Amino acid sequence: MRAIDGRRFVLASHNAGKLGEFDGLLAPFGYEVHSAGELGLPEPEETGTTFEENAYIKAFAAAKATGLPALSDDSGMCAEALDGRPGVHTADWATLSDGSRDFYVAMEKVETLLREKGASTPDQRRARFVAVLCLCFPDGEAEYYRGEAPGHLIWPPRGNLGFGYDPVFQPDGRERTFGEMTAEEKHGWKPGHAEALSHRARAFRSFARARLGVV
Ligand code: IMP
Repeated sequence: MRAIDGRRFVLASHNAGKLGEFDGLLAPFGYEVHSAGELGLPEPEETGTTFEENAYIKAFAAAKATGLPALSDDSGMCAEALDGRPGVHTADWATLSDGSRDFYVAMEKVETLLREKGASTPDQRRARFVAVLCLCFPDGEAEYYRGEAPGHLIWPPRGNLGFGYDPVFQPDGRERTFGEMTAEEKHGWKPGHAEALSHRARAFRSFARARLGVV
């Protein structure tokens, strides 16, 4: 497997919520991590139709610009009754006409569509969060790590922890939404633990096993 020289890499994300979660997940490993925002890198347009394609676009842009390996995350929420939407457009559904984002608006949009479909029971409201990590080298060589968290969508939103769609997502086997969980509970994973709950922690766990020498 190709080495990450010098234990340095770039996190190809401008999303403060995701960066905070990554910092927490990476903290124990002693890697020097720079974020795309801190390096002043532009945000590339996410024109892909899959999480993998968008993760590659972000990681390759950051790796090419810095000459360092880059790790990106493309993620989103897929509702079964909506044929997998919003999917790769999860962030776009929160974007207002002035370019700012309001996730309450996005959650309401999902709720309206679920009601139009008559989806009222937890079974009819099944959804999953997906996270795909892409580790890309400056020459374009890439590898992928995918994690999924199955659950269902609730209404009204509950909890103000976390970010994005966390307050409407209740993962399987839990009574609380991601918005009601501390970061530790939401991810449910640290090195040496087999369990992981969030999609990002599950993707990160497979990255850490392959790349950071973690069991
Ligand atoms: P992107 O990966 O930057 O295209 O954005 C994905 C979007 O999915 C984010 O802006 C969030 O709204 C949503 N999302 C991804 N992961 C999570 C999560 O862990 N909790 C809540 N929302 C999430």
